[in-house]
Amino acid sequence: MNLEELYKKCNECRACSLHKTKTNTVFGVGRSDADIMFVGEAPGENEDLTGEPFVGRAGKLFDKYLDAVGIKRENIYIANILKCRPPKNRDPQKDEEEACMGFLREQVRIINPSLIVCLGRISAMRLIKPDFKITAEHGVFFEKGKFMMTAVYHPSALLRDPHKKDDMLKDMEKIKEYAVNNGLII
Ligand code: URA
Repeated sequence: MNLEELYKKCNECRACSLHKTKTNTVFGVGRSDADIMFVGEAPGENEDLTGEPFVGRAGKLFDKYLDAVGIKRENIYIANILKCRPPKNRDPQKDEEEACMGFLREQVRIINPSLIVCLGRISAMRLIKPDFKITAEHGVFFEKGKFMMTAVYHPSALLRDPHKKDDMLKDMEKIKEYAVNNGLII
């Protein structure tokens, strides 16, 4: 299966109730052969309206960090744990995550990135380890099977607490350094 075929399946998915309230499926964007994959939590209002991840306020802030460290958005792949927006942006429920994870697993299998970067706690708890502590473990690199993984603060957390912005820049610089040292496409 390729990404286009997977998108079609995802768009028709009825495995949880979120398909009833969504406007668009927010499947993911970027290179199908990206070396770095960023994974957020779930679409917000702007993402639901456009069908693209990280295009709202948090997304614009995320773009600034990509720019700051010289990573091009078109060279990476960006997806979320959930492909449909939870009403009123509430946290994803466990059953919704379970229902949706197969799509992300398949995206990872097709794209086969070297580095997976979790955007925020929810993504890190799901992809790195269930007891992931974002304040203590952001910017730490974990080797998981054939993937290197790390997590940074969610851009929405930076909007709520600008004190976290220095850490975010340092973590993004570490990601860039890892990419350069390992010859990844950025
Ligand atoms: N927050 C996320 O986690 N993902 C998006 O796509 C937008 C906001």
